[in-house]
Amino acid sequence: MIIRKGPAELERIARAGELVAATIAHVGEHLRPGITTGELDDIAGEFIHRHGGTSASKGYRGSTPYHDPYPAEICISPNAMVVHGIPGPYRVAEGDLVTIDVGAVLDGAIADSAYTFGVGAIDPEAQRLLDTAQDALAAGIAEARAGNRIGDISFAIQSVVEGAGFSVIRSLVGHGVGRHYHEDPHVPNFGQPGRGPKLSEGMTIAIEPMITMGAAEVVLHDDQWSISTEDGSLAAHFEHTVAITPAGPRILTIAGDREPSLLQ
Ligand code: MF3
Ligand code: CO
Repeated sequence: MIIRKGPAELERIARAGELVAATIAHVGEHLRPGITTGELDDIAGEFIHRHGGTSASKGYRGSTPYHDPYPAEICISPNAMVVHGIPGPYRVAEGDLVTIDVGAVLDGAIADSAYTFGVGAIDPEAQRLLDTAQDALAAGIAEARAGNRIGDISFAIQSVVEGAGFSVIRSLVGHGVGRHYHEDPHVPNFGQPGRGPKLSEGMTIAIEPMITMGAAEVVLHDDQWSISTEDGSLAAHFEHTVAITPAGPRILTIAGDREPSLLQ
């Protein structure tokens, strides 16, 4: 069931979205060679709580094949790891690609966003992977308009990614978000224009291309959460929570103009 949100709920999701964006930026400032992903998780958790929020990820129980509740504040996925990396002893190194994926709850509303950072000087082809994933997200967001269908978003993303010679992961998808962490509809990163559920005002969806330099196949680690590319190729992942409004797509996971700024 797709949950459409009214204006008041939309603003609450936007405030959660500001917190998510600020958290990602804050973690990004600490993302330097030598820091562990566990330390970054502590920094994220402290920031989210200091601003009155809680993690949407911690304690989250996905559907199968997940078993234990998710144990950390955020997901941190380095290099070939695509999503749901559990922060821990891994030490960030120069040249890494590190995805920071944050879901936060604020005043009962949930927003979700992810950003893949390059650490220091990265390989030019890795930079092209990041640029392509960001371009794909932008192309998907541009299609998030009332009257369009989910397939229009999916097709736009797929076209950018495959046009650049990279692969879209098909077994992981975007999703509705806002009242729950994962709501209907699914938002795949591949598909055909004009297909799938119709977009209408008040829908809030997480659009999140997950792409790789190599093949599209992924594997689940023994921890039952972390997912990496099967061939070990680098992955990138950018995600925004977006509302369908009469004025077009509205990105909710960005720093707003409210005072005081969460970034201070
Ligand atoms: N933030 C992830 C997403 O983009 C979901 C993470 S669920 C968790 O959908 F439990 F692993 F945190
Ligand atoms: Co998501």
